[in-house]
Amino acid sequence: MPSPLPNPVNTPAWWQLLNWIADPIQFQQKYSQQYGDMFTLRLGSLGRPIVVGNPQAIQDIFSQDAKFDIGRANAIAEPLIGRNSLMLMDGDRHRRERKLLMPPFHGERLQTYAQQICLITEQVASQWHVGQTFVARTAMQRVSLEIILQIVFGLSEGERYEQLKPLLTQWLDMTDSPLRSSFLFLKFLQKDWGTWSPWGQMRQRQRQVHALLQAEIAERRTQGETGRKDVLSLMMAVRDEQGQAMTDEEIRDELLTILFAGHETTATTLAWAFYQIHRNPQVREKLLHELDSMGDRSAPMELAQLPYLNAVCQEALRMYPVLPVVFPRVAKSPVQIAGQEFAPETTFIPSIYLVHYREELYPNAQQFQPERFLERQYSPSEYLPFGGGSRRCLGYALAQLEMKLVLATVLSQYQLTLAENEPVKLQRRGFTLAPKGGVRMVMAGKR
Ligand code: HEM
Repeated sequence: MPSPLPNPVNTPAWWQLLNWIADPIQFQQKYSQQYGDMFTLRLGSLGRPIVVGNPQAIQDIFSQDAKFDIGRANAIAEPLIGRNSLMLMDGDRHRRERKLLMPPFHGERLQTYAQQICLITEQVASQWHVGQTFVARTAMQRVSLEIILQIVFGLSEGERYEQLKPLLTQWLDMTDSPLRSSFLFLKFLQKDWGTWSPWGQMRQRQRQVHALLQAEIAERRTQGETGRKDVLSLMMAVRDEQGQAMTDEEIRDELLTILFAGHETTATTLAWAFYQIHRNPQVREKLLHELDSMGDRSAPMELAQLPYLNAVCQEALRMYPVLPVVFPRVAKSPVQIAGQEFAPETTFIPSIYLVHYREELYPNAQQFQPERFLERQYSPSEYLPFGGGSRRCLGYALAQLEMKLVLATVLSQYQLTLAENEPVKLQRRGFTLAPKGGVRMVMAGKR
């Protein structure tokens, strides 16, 4: 006999959805205090998902990922990333696609990007002048977009690259506030009434991006084998078991998936890291001490091994999960979670945020304390900024390498301060959560 849905939240469905869009953190905080670490919501097209903040239950979910459909619950992202995206796939198709896309983001290949990451960071930072105020999130987005364009698209110059860069930024900036993000969640707002309507503008930018990507793919097809190592070239060369190549549309959707998933997330976490490092002088000093001990000529991969730098990045990812929850999991068959049996079609949403703020795991959870990661090890369901199970973030290794190298490059060369003393708040930005105002900083001098 399946268990009933635990702790149903009994406010009106429209109210729950609006709060989820506007402030998912406060919403989760409120209901977890009231109902504990498993409660059931009403969330529009997701039906009645159970939000899970209990590590043991999350472990049960991750270890049974094969019993869930995950791609189909991500359909909400289809208008942005296209229907051929890895994120929307399930079963064998998903497994095959992941196997194909994994290698360029892991292992030895990762090391080849390290130098590029440092160079791109230096180029962006060299544009700051002493005394100038800049927005950390915008600067970091410039860095992370450039990294994705070079590593994934293999683009670093030319007319198409110059067009693509501002267009992608404008496209993503269209969801830079809760109000402007709401049309991603509310299907009835997705009406294309020409370029004066938000959805019409969104579609227009999408068509322009598609056209540029299509042109790039077509040009590469005429070039044949060039020995290029970027992810686009890899996708073009791959063949499935029947010898079939990926279609242009499939390649385009995967490029956009990686772009969407990969560059805003990293840029936002970096902005939070800069914020907390400069709010906590003792953290900054300790970090600089560690970086300075390496000398000027240290190799990027050596920097990436530094324990305190690693702890600072982990703590930023803990405190500010850009995705406050992982992808929803829809049960295909009966599942046992936390000792209870749930019926097929039950949807679970493991909450990164709720786990990362559990006091018994993270004492003084509201404080930025990188030391906690030097003092104890956390299991995959106690620390999950990149999700887990079969859907664990494809770019987790690249994201962490990027965070470490960008922080090391900037902090060892520049003296920065926060432009304002007031605490920075969280704000929805599309599917992610970002610092409101983007963290304004001042370049106080060179080191
Ligand atoms: C700080 C940066 C990042 C964070 C916090 C982050 C977080 C996440 C999370 C929470 C998930 C969902 C996992 C789940 O449901 O279990 C995810 C999935 C994904 N991420 Fe990331 N991510 C980051 C950077 C990146 C980068 C750099 C890339 C690409 C190079 C990337 C590509 C993806 C893809 C393709 C998926 C879907 C995986 C699948 O469906 O199998 N992410 N990410």
